[in-house]
Amino acid sequence: SIVNGNEIFAAARKGHYAVGAFNINNLEWTRSILAAAQETNTPILVQTSMGAGKYMGGYELCLNLVQQTVKSMGITVPVVMHLDHGNYEAAKECIEVGYTSVMFDGHDLPFEENLEKTKEIVALAHAKNISVEAEVGSIGGEEDGIIGEGELADVEEAKKIAATGVDYLACGIGNIHGKYPANWTGLHFDRLKELADEISTPLVLHGGSGIPKDQIQKAISMGVSKVNVNTECQLAFADATRKYIEAGKDLEGKGYDPRKLLAPGAKAITDIVRERIDWFGTPSVK
Ligand code: G3H
Ligand code: ZN
Repeated sequence: SIVNGNEIFAAARKGHYAVGAFNINNLEWTRSILAAAQETNTPILVQTSMGAGKYMGGYELCLNLVQQTVKSMGITVPVVMHLDHGNYEAAKECIEVGYTSVMFDGHDLPFEENLEKTKEIVALAHAKNISVEAEVGSIGGEEDGIIGEGELADVEEAKKIAATGVDYLACGIGNIHGKYPANWTGLHFDRLKELADEISTPLVLHGGSGIPKDQIQKAISMGVSKVNVNTECQLAFADATRKYIEAGKDLEGKGYDPRKLLAPGAKAITDIVRERIDWFGTPSVK
């Protein structure tokens, strides 16, 4: 069933494990991710970025897709339907449409404005029993061809955002969206410790693709309860699809049929998600 994230992530923080949050782009992504959760009998969060929402034809369609897929696949584990990195308008729209969780990402606004808008989104969302994620500091990533580390979350600012009642909090701790550069020095565990010591809100690790397993697990043991993974599923899908085509399988019989052509990539996504669920230590639901 589709549920909000409150209890799932609060329990994760208390239990020192994490629940994975995986981005979807289409039917195959949705089915592949849900299949891994059902196989492992663990809760999962599926999320659409604003770009994916636009690509798929709107947030209402995304929500319907997930709801109907959950139903048709007979998914029984808890599924959270989340907006990833939403601006103020997108967060409001997803609250209207009926997502069970939204991220309002105001990290690029002046801090006071991020705080005010986070408060507004929390009030709107909580009135409808919808969970909220906010962001402090910034997640690194590529800009003008250069991969930056982002800005580490300031502990005092993070405390103020946490005090708005957000259900989970994304903090910059040296994590980066997309591929990590070869000279990346790792997560800033000293900052994570300062944040986790002061804040009981479940913390979110963005840019989960390409962080070594031991660092992810250390971060989880310290207070990270939600790990976002996107790029790794994309790379796995592309790799499996390339192998299929390079092996000439699309030219054998009806190998060009999209239901065959997309199958190896879809399976590769399920494999990655299943492995990450294991890394994160997500316990089975009873
Ligand atoms: O919000 C989405 C995630 O932070 C994904 O990051 O593509 O580096 O795994 P990633
Ligand atoms: Zn992110």
